[in-house]
Amino acid sequence: MMEAVLKAMPDGQHYTVRMPAADDFAFWREQARALIQCGVPPEGVSWSEPDGTGDLFASGGDALPQPPDGARAVRANKRFVSLARNAILHSEPERFAQLYLLLWKLQSNPRIVEDKTDPVVRRVEELDKSVRRDSHKMHAFVRFRLIETEDGAEHYVAWFEPDHHIVRANAGFFKRRFANMRWSILTPRGCLHWDGKIMREGPPAERSDAPDGDPVEQLWKSYYASTFNPARLKVGAMLSEMPKKYWKNMPEAALIPELIAGAQAREAQMVAAGEREVRVRPQTLSAMAQVLNNCRDCPIAECGTRAVMGEGSSRAPLMIIGEQPGDQEDLAGRPFVGPAGQLLDSALERAGIDRASAYVTNAVKHFKFVQKGKRRLHQTSTAKEIDTCRWWLESERAIVKPRIILALGASAARALLGKTVSLASARGKPILLDDETELWITAHPSYLLRLDGSAREEQAALFAADLTLVRTRLTQLAA
Ligand code: URA
Repeated sequence: MMEAVLKAMPDGQHYTVRMPAADDFAFWREQARALIQCGVPPEGVSWSEPDGTGDLFASGGDALPQPPDGARAVRANKRFVSLARNAILHSEPERFAQLYLLLWKLQSNPRIVEDKTDPVVRRVEELDKSVRRDSHKMHAFVRFRLIETEDGAEHYVAWFEPDHHIVRANAGFFKRRFANMRWSILTPRGCLHWDGKIMREGPPAERSDAPDGDPVEQLWKSYYASTFNPARLKVGAMLSEMPKKYWKNMPEAALIPELIAGAQAREAQMVAAGEREVRVRPQTLSAMAQVLNNCRDCPIAECGTRAVMGEGSSRAPLMIIGEQPGDQEDLAGRPFVGPAGQLLDSALERAGIDRASAYVTNAVKHFKFVQKGKRRLHQTSTAKEIDTCRWWLESERAIVKPRIILALGASAARALLGKTVSLASARGKPILLDDETELWITAHPSYLLRLDGSAREEQAALFAADLTLVRTRLTQLAA
């Protein structure tokens, strides 16, 4: 088959493809397809990096041959496409040619990508692996500093030095993870700016464009120092996970040598005090949002897209607490935006409670689910997971200091009381917590959604009555 196609290539013709952007997989694929269909062999084409002007027609790019009518479709399997999409982000200039060579070979050997002994396959896999590693480091080691903008809004800025052209490819990750913040990630390979709605790209930046220390950094340092568990210290593993070259942009890294040096003494102290770890609480909601995402205290933290922080005023008189984010909340990065949230919103409105004046959050901050085909099915958090996540809920309580807490369902009630209570006996009257906050317990809106007919009507009436009691109490406290 290749011979037939090869005839289409003019003898000795050599082409140069100038890439418009270093990470433009779609462009590379389009050119590679046409070249293969015209039978241009790997030695008949040179691929060059963009010249930095962003002008596609700058210089040196040749007019490529047009595939003949009826040219055969180019063969590229899923594995190739997934490898190529990633490997193209590598900083090695030869990557475009290596990928073309592999695509060329794939036309006559559809199983080539599985052949681990093939040197081109091995090279492309190495490129892919090193890009993956770089992306992983970016996810783990980007550290935002807080700056005040002219309009007084909070803006977070991070500096990161990727090895490869991974910045644009990772925009979605950071957008999902920090959806509710305004942030910029500055890098020498280009910048990302997110204003809560729109992602913009910017030209390469320099280290001096990014701010240095600030309160978030202090928070990171104290958080890291206080959660650093000397009893678990494994220097080798830590260095391989967090190579030294990243330390200079990570505030907490400055503490590592000191922490390692002090680890033994601290371990002895901890053993004597019978403690496992001590933490410093964040002082603001935005500071908490920064560190919450890195929480790995329980296995749920590995599920889903992100930790979902509560939302609302830091001075709200009412805190509403659910169980855990669901599928839609995980995607949106906001609590109670899915079906249960809609039911809650309309019930609050009917009871005369303005959701916007409350602080809405969950007992557990990550979405726990099992994957069933394309669907992610909710799994109830265990008592242990609720208890583990309580530290974050208490941090929110310490910042917001609500007068009233409304717990929706058994998980939220457990998070507040440390024990399981029956809804039937707990609803309709307040429980006074240690700090004098009134806790009101009612059903979870998802419970109502699971009922039908008269059972649903009955439970909806009880739910409405509970909310009305809370509204009355809020009015009394505000008077
Ligand atoms: N259910 C909850 O408990 N919390 C949410 O945020 C959404 C659904």
